[in-house]
Amino acid sequence: MKRTEYNFSGKKVNCVFDAGFDYVFTMAQKSKLIFLTDEQVFELHREKFTDCTCICIPTGEKMKTQQTVDHIINRLIELEADKQTYIIGVGGGVITDIAGYVAGIFKRGMKFALVPTTILAMVDAAIGGKNGVDVGYYKNMVGTIYQPEFIVYDYSFLNSLPVKEWINGFAEIIKHACIKDPELFVMLEENTLHHIQSDKPFVASLVERNVAIKMDIVTTDEFEKADRKLLNFGHTFGHALENLHQLPHGNAISIGMVAACNLSEKINGLHFDDAQRVVKLLAKYHLPVDIETDYAKVFEVLKLDKKREDEYMHFVLLNKIGEAEAKPVQMKFLQENIKQIL
Ligand code: GLY
Repeated sequence: MKRTEYNFSGKKVNCVFDAGFDYVFTMAQKSKLIFLTDEQVFELHREKFTDCTCICIPTGEKMKTQQTVDHIINRLIELEADKQTYIIGVGGGVITDIAGYVAGIFKRGMKFALVPTTILAMVDAAIGGKNGVDVGYYKNMVGTIYQPEFIVYDYSFLNSLPVKEWINGFAEIIKHACIKDPELFVMLEENTLHHIQSDKPFVASLVERNVAIKMDIVTTDEFEKADRKLLNFGHTFGHALENLHQLPHGNAISIGMVAACNLSEKINGLHFDDAQRVVKLLAKYHLPVDIETDYAKVFEVLKLDKKREDEYMHFVLLNKIGEAEAKPVQMKFLQENIKQIL
């Protein structure tokens, strides 16, 4: 077990790597722990929750709504939770997002920890404190930034993770490589998903390297005034496609990263010419690199993106592999070129 402490503005967050699930029982007495999980995780790991208080919701992105949040809050009231009660989100990105949101707003903030169970949640969703729910097509339209006290990494959850979820998670790993870590990009080029999956120490070190990349960014810029914007690489088109086509998050941002690379090659002043190298890496990790879509509809969703400011969209583009930059791109340019970009 390895514990690393990260300093945020109002809280210290402890990442406990290679810990057993039982680590959560050292945080507080059992009566002060309420687990939030989904039916799939609960069914697969029922024994871990023996004698625990659990709120279990159906699985899937469709649950990321205010209605689910209201249901959980009503359960917390019934269970007489107070500000010293921990809500512990055990699951993938949907659970970590809902747990953080509920923890941040219930009684204006209760204690909170996460046990991410997917690659995507381990390297991305559990880190950084952003949380929230979707409103119709609009991803994460409502939410807060609220940090957990602990993030517990129990890699044994990965033993039951379906391959499609590994693929989904590798989109965020490739994103980190594209924006911050050219050596990681090369390491991924030299490996395959199959090889990585079969090498548990390699998986652990890959997760920890990616946690470090993201923590470095979000502890320096918790409220997204500067570098944190770079984590949105691939997410502008990605989020629009995700809900329009009901795509898994990683698949959607994979296509979004291709679009951002194509745009990087088109924008004057950037000298990016490695879009095909990124496409090749995404395809190597079985991620989709294009989609048939209704461009007008995509543009309609894009217009309501949080990163839009009047006539401009703040887009994360690449100067080179491992170096990203947020640049304002005219909405008109995006509309006129959407077919070539996407
Ligand atoms: N919870 C994900 C993030 O803060 O980026």
